[in-house]
Amino acid sequence: MPEAPVSPNDLEPFWMPFTANRQFKANPRLLARAEGMYYYTPEGRQVLDGTAGLWCCNAGHGQPKVVEAIQKQAAIMDFAPVFQMGHPLAFELAGRLASLMGGDLDHVFFTNSGSESVDTALKIALAYHRVRGEGTRTRLIGRERGYHGVGFGGISVGGMVNNRRFFGSLLNGVDHLRHTHLPHLNAFTKGQPEHGADLADDLERLVALHGAETIAAVIVEPVAGSTGVLVPPKGYLERLRGICDKHGILLIFDEVITGFGRLGTAFAVDKFGVAPDLVTTAKGLTSGTVPMGAVFARKGIYDAFMTGPESAIELFHGYTYSAHPLACAAALATMEVYKDLDLFNRAASLEAHWADTAHSLKGLDAVIDIRTLGLIAGVELAPRPGAPGARAYDVFLKCFNEGVLVRYTGETIAMSPPLIIEKPQIDHAFEVLRDAITSVA
Ligand SMILES: Cc1ncc(COP(=O)(O)O)c(C=O)c1O
Repeated sequence: MPEAPVSPNDLEPFWMPFTANRQFKANPRLLARAEGMYYYTPEGRQVLDGTAGLWCCNAGHGQPKVVEAIQKQAAIMDFAPVFQMGHPLAFELAGRLASLMGGDLDHVFFTNSGSESVDTALKIALAYHRVRGEGTRTRLIGRERGYHGVGFGGISVGGMVNNRRFFGSLLNGVDHLRHTHLPHLNAFTKGQPEHGADLADDLERLVALHGAETIAAVIVEPVAGSTGVLVPPKGYLERLRGICDKHGILLIFDEVITGFGRLGTAFAVDKFGVAPDLVTTAKGLTSGTVPMGAVFARKGIYDAFMTGPESAIELFHGYTYSAHPLACAAALATMEVYKDLDLFNRAASLEAHWADTAHSLKGLDAVIDIRTLGLIAGVELAPRPGAPGARAYDVFLKCFNEGVLVRYTGETIAMSPPLIIEKPQIDHAFEVLRDAITSVA
């Protein structure tokens, strides 16, 4: 059959993810180009990127070193298998990442996304206990309001109802900690809130309920992003670590958002001084340029697998595109850019200005909470009666029309700009947000 001519203006065939397709297609918002801190629409209108794309373009857009590395690698070697084969960039990148992470989180498993990193970490945790002869540890613990991507593992341990309720019975043997969002105690806190460390004791409750010998791992986002920016209460992560240690449960940090400078440190591990057993990452790993994820595992976890016959495959897991050469080249160049521009320290040095500016919206009628840490801000709005999320959507739309890209999730406006942002751009972004909140009833 001859191919029908395809118009780039026909929006219908693309089933858009996490989007109200009909609403969007009736009134589309298109981005055609990006450079530095800005997107440009097809008409050439400039839009300040207040969200680093989707929490991923930490180095800003079109970094020449990254662009060049991807272009060069495409010509040198487009693809190489890493099942029973290897290529030098994969090993170089793993080494580079292990040294950036530091400590004994020094083995790296490559994936292509945050969702795959989460499923990989959960599978490693289950298999780790099994290879050590603790095969009864099959239970996984997540947290209410957690977001761990969209794989079956991720939505099972995740805690956002719409991501779960349409998709059947999910994984067996999963339970959830309570979330740490306590607005009546912690509203308008800059940085880590005072109240809520004791919520980590929920894990003791689940141990008492299920038996520690049935629990493989607990997974949490050190700072939850997609569910509306939830910063961990002081002492919470430390307490969770202690309870995991006491009961032989692995602790997994999902650092898909917090990794690579978002909090003003390389990882949340550094920010909070709490070392988990596995860390999931993606997004900032390549600054969003080529899909890639990475799971960091402690040496002891890797070593536990390296005990059978040397000719035996130790872990029956992997993706065709694990350690894809273009992604490796992009990630290595991204690490160079982070270092050359000292972007993690830059984010740290902007944190106070960022927080002050965000919190200057306190007092607006519709604003019921503001939460900040590193270069993340969540501005929570009072829902319109009978129309959940509608006010936040209107604010998002108004900001986009005024040239600033923000995100909305539930009732919260979330911002997480590239780490190259300048102070006047921070001021401008929050001014536009202020006007939008004020003008949208
Ligand atoms: C904490 C966390 N985990 C996992 C994911 C899923 O990543 P991806 O969309 O790359 O699969 C996300 C995405 O926002 C995330 O924020």
